Amino acid sequence: MRGTPLEVQAISDITLDVQRGEIVGIIGHTGSGKSTAIQHFNALLRPHAGKAVVVGMDLNAPDLDLRMIRRRVGLVFQLPEAQLFEQFVGDDVAYGPRKLGLSREEVRARVRRAMETVGLSFEEFKDRLTFTLSGGEMRRAALAGVLALEPEVLVLDEPTAGLDPEARRQLMRHILTLHDEGMTLVIVSHNMEELAEICDRLYVINDGRTYLMGTPGEVFNRGGAPSDGVGCARCHVDRRTPQGSRMAGARHPGLHAATGN
Ligand SMILES: Nc1ncnc2c1ncn2[C@@H]1O[C@H](COP(=O)(O)OP(=O)(O)OP(=O)(O)O)[C@@H](O)[C@H]1O
Ligand SMILES: [Mg+2]
Repeated sequence: MRGTPLEVQAISDITLDVQRGEIVGIIGHTGSGKSTAIQHFNALLRPHAGKAVVVGMDLNAPDLDLRMIRRRVGLVFQLPEAQLFEQFVGDDVAYGPRKLGLSREEVRARVRRAMETVGLSFEEFKDRLTFTLSGGEMRRAALAGVLALEPEVLVLDEPTAGLDPEARRQLMRHILTLHDEGMTLVIVSHNMEELAEICDRLYVINDGRTYLMGTPGEVFNRGGAPSDGVGCARCHVDRRTPQGSRMAGARHPGLHAATGN
């Protein structure tokens, strides 16, 4: 709640730059501001100071097309299975595409594609009651619901948290397939090794700020480039492609955003 004693500054100076086709990882301690930062990627939150440009759209533009940005940038929340709300898996995955006003056939085709992409057989799972799925299957069903919107950029908040090693491997394999097909990925994780293996670049967020950025090798071996030094994340912003997404000096009080004020 902005301007009240309850106001919380969840992030204070985050600089992130994602180029089309990249896999970018975001690491940081619990409470460091990762989830708050990435909710800017599809304009669930907008910066109160600083600048954020996502898929070429300025989040502070008064005429920002929210529907368009949410079609182009898919966000999979932390513990997304908590948001499965339809009785049947197929209906849950279909929820987004139905809202887009597509034909029945197109919705069905998208649901089938999205489910098969995450390894849930359409015929086998479409009529399953959502609450009967295993944890890993729920996570994949939730991911399918976002994929059915066919976004260009997929932002995943702790996608493998709480899964056993086999479910984790499976899910990461499906996510990497998406990248092979041309999707840009932004992945938040506590699991540094998991991110180091797959990411082109990593950002380390600390206490609401971009603390380090660089390739996994730079971040792990040399401690990366300090965000306020030469070669810093903010310098990187100016070299982005028009299709890229960036945030520079974004500040966001969490509570204010949560109340939608
Ligand atoms: N709606 C809110 N109301 C009050 N405080 C909030 C709100 N949202 C976030 N915060 C605070 O902002 C800070 C950053 O939270 P955020 O959820 O972005 O962290 P995180 O890095 O994603 O943590 P985790 O790794 O535990 O998911 C935390 O101190 C959190 O308590
Ligand atoms: Mg989080």
